[in-house]
Amino acid sequence: MNGPLSLRTRIALLFALSVTAALLLASRWFAYVGNARLLADARQELCGKVAWAQAMLRAVHTPEDWARLEARAPDIRYGQPGMAFLITDRGSVRDAFGAKPEIRRLAAIPPGAKATPATLTVGSRVLLVAAARMPVGIPGARPVRVAIGLDITHDRLFSHHFERTIDITILALGMALGGLGWLVARRGLSPIKAVSSRMAALSARTLDQPLASAPVPREMEELVRAFELMRTHLHDAFRRLTQFSDDLAHELRTPLSNCLLQTQVTLDGAADLQRYRAALQANEEECQRLSRMMADMLFMAKADNRLEKPRCEALDLAAEVAALFEFYDAQAAEQGVRLTLTGHARLQADKLMLRRAISNLLSNALAFTARGDAIRVHMETSDDGFAVLGVTNPGPEIPEAEQARIFERLYRADAARQNNASDHLGLGLAITRSIVELHGGAIGVSCRNGHTTFTMRLPALCGEAPAGA
Ligand SMILES: Nc1ncnc2c1ncn2[C@@H]1O[C@H](COP(=O)(O)OP(=O)(O)OP(=O)(O)O)[C@@H](O)[C@H]1O
Ligand SMILES: [Mg+2]
Repeated sequence: MNGPLSLRTRIALLFALSVTAALLLASRWFAYVGNARLLADARQELCGKVAWAQAMLRAVHTPEDWARLEARAPDIRYGQPGMAFLITDRGSVRDAFGAKPEIRRLAAIPPGAKATPATLTVGSRVLLVAAARMPVGIPGARPVRVAIGLDITHDRLFSHHFERTIDITILALGMALGGLGWLVARRGLSPIKAVSSRMAALSARTLDQPLASAPVPREMEELVRAFELMRTHLHDAFRRLTQFSDDLAHELRTPLSNCLLQTQVTLDGAADLQRYRAALQANEEECQRLSRMMADMLFMAKADNRLEKPRCEALDLAAEVAALFEFYDAQAAEQGVRLTLTGHARLQADKLMLRRAISNLLSNALAFTARGDAIRVHMETSDDGFAVLGVTNPGPEIPEAEQARIFERLYRADAARQNNASDHLGLGLAITRSIVELHGGAIGVSCRNGHTTFTMRLPALCGEAPAGA
């Protein structure tokens, strides 16, 4: 047989084998009890015959009585036509009836003080025999030897036939039960079949449909729940991938069509050096945008596949933020926004990556903070060994449904996305998250009372994310 047995066949076989074994065991027990009963009946009958013979012999007082006994002896066969009977006196036969081989075997049985029944097989017949010395009524006469054999062949044949019939019936029943078990197992396992065919039919287009349309048996609930979770994850990943490729196409189309348009317009017009220069400058800007996008995408792809390794060094987080403040000072002053820094933390991290991650948060905060307001950066070392940095700015709150999505690549809020000419690609937070995760940390956002806070948690020791990271 190829491969392991199917679950259905296993259940059916086990069911049939166990039921057959149990029935066979029960039938053996019943046969044993039946045989014991038959033997007990035969013994009782034999004892009755022995008692009858004893009474007859005690009634022999004269030699004439012997002749009467011999005449009446065949009566002992009443109800037992196949019985063998033998009386011997000092080796010579006084009376005997039955088949010759049986008489010979009876003569060979050593007589006991008491007639104890035993079974004896003679040819195809089975006898229950007993032999004993019995006194006669003649005063001074020696006891004679009496042997009686009851024919129990019929009982034995009956038992044998009964056992065989039951065995055949049980085997047939076992086979029928095997078939029945197979049908029952098939019906019982049908939810597995339904779920597996639903899984086999799963494709990119049907990833949003649940695996089981009806409730499944309790034993399968955990399995189906695990598959459902996997399907949801796959669906989510697939949706994000589709969204990402849509966004990517969208982001690439604008600069490329700008380049194309500039080039065509320039070529169609009169040859003019200034025109060419302006067109090439515009094209250069678009190309720079594209190349920046590609570099960012490449960085994230490497980070996600752990190909980018952070070069860790001991850093003073406050000093790093202060250095970034210097960079953003001019822009902040121009926008009329204040930058404040509180707290202190030390950690091991890749300096350039860390600056890039914080810089993305600061640049976002600057974009959403109104003139006259302040951006607050706060840091501390948590009890569980993380350097925690929060960047808070007053401004429009991010709707809850969007809070997880803003960390996706190329995701921008609708208003930002409409402006194709915008310099923003929607990659800043995705890069920040990649960097944070590369360091074994986590990032999240929360909005409260008109303030948005991005919080980064980084393990203080590089590559040693404390439990719960
Ligand atoms: N501090 C903030 N307040 C409100 N919304 C924000 C804030 N920071 C980010 N967002 C939202 O998250 C989106 C994604 O931010 P992300 O930094 O990834 O992209 P971006 O700033 O639009 O482009 P890029 O960073 O590539 O220049 C933004 O478009 C914006 O809608
Ligand atoms: Mg940004």
